[in-house]
Amino acid sequence: MRRMMRIDNDHIVIFDDFRNVKIDEPADLVFADPPFGIDFEGNLQSYHRKPDALSYVEVSREEYPSFIRDLLDWSYKVLKPSGSMWLLSGWNNLGIVLQAIDKSGFHLINHCIWKYQFGVFTKRRFTTSHYHLLLMVKDKKNYTFNKPEHYAEDVWYIKRPYQRGVKTAGNELPDELVKKCICTSSNVGDLVVDPVLGSGTTMRVCLKNGRRCIGVEINPALEERIREKLGLNSNLTI
Ligand SMILES: C[S@@+](CC[C@H](N)C(=O)[O-])C[C@H]1O[C@@H](n2cnc3c(N)ncnc32)[C@H](O)[C@@H]1O
Repeated sequence: MRRMMRIDNDHIVIFDDFRNVKIDEPADLVFADPPFGIDFEGNLQSYHRKPDALSYVEVSREEYPSFIRDLLDWSYKVLKPSGSMWLLSGWNNLGIVLQAIDKSGFHLINHCIWKYQFGVFTKRRFTTSHYHLLLMVKDKKNYTFNKPEHYAEDVWYIKRPYQRGVKTAGNELPDELVKKCICTSSNVGDLVVDPVLGSGTTMRVCLKNGRRCIGVEINPALEERIREKLGLNSNLTI
C-alpha cells in the first residue's frame, strides 16, 4: 500500500513514483528539481561523495528523455490553466530538457541561472558552479508573477547550505532559492506540487510561506530526513 505522511490537511507527502499519483485539485504551481541523469553513482569519486550520500533514486542517461517528458506531461495535467512550473536542470542534460519543453505545451518565459559559491575542483575544464532554473507557464496572458524586486534579474547568487556533520539527502536545495521561485509564482493559500520532493525543501518553504503543498517522493527512506527538516518527531505516517 502507498505510504502517505500527512503533516496537516494542507501539507501531504506521498511516497510513490509521481507517474502513479493523481492529484485531485488543480494546482497553481509545480516546482520540480529532478534527478541529474548523469550516472552520478558512477561518478562518486569525482563528486567527493560517499555512497550513503546517495539516498535518492537516479534515472539513467538512456531513460532521461522519457523521464523528463513524463514529468512535463504529468505537471501540465496537474496544473490549472493559469498555472506555472519551475523546472531545474544542470547543463549536462539541458538540451534534452529544452527539447522536451518545446513539445510540452508550456511556454518558457524565463531561463534563470543559479550561481552557487563553489563547485567540484576540476583540472582540465572549468568548475561548474551554476544551475538552470526554467520558468514555464500554460497561458502567457494569465499567470502569477510576484516580481521580487524592482529590477529583477535572471542571475541569482545564492549560497548552497553547507551542513557539516549533518546527514543530508546529498542534493538539497537552499530554502532561499526555492522560496524565490515559489513566492514569485504563487500566492498565499495556493497549492504547490513537487513531484520529486527529495528531502522536503519545497514542503518546508510552503509551510513557512502560507502555501499548501503536496510532495511526491519515490524513495520512502527519505521520510526520516523530511521529518527532521520539518521538525516533526511523532510518527504521522498513514
Ligand atoms: C534532485 S532530488 C530533489 C532534491 C530536493 N529539491 C531537495 O531540496 O531535497 C530528486 C528526487 O527525485 C526523486 N525521484 C526520482 N525518481 C522519481 C519518481 N519517478 N517519482 C518521484 N520521485 C522521484 C529522487 O529519489 C530524489 O529524491
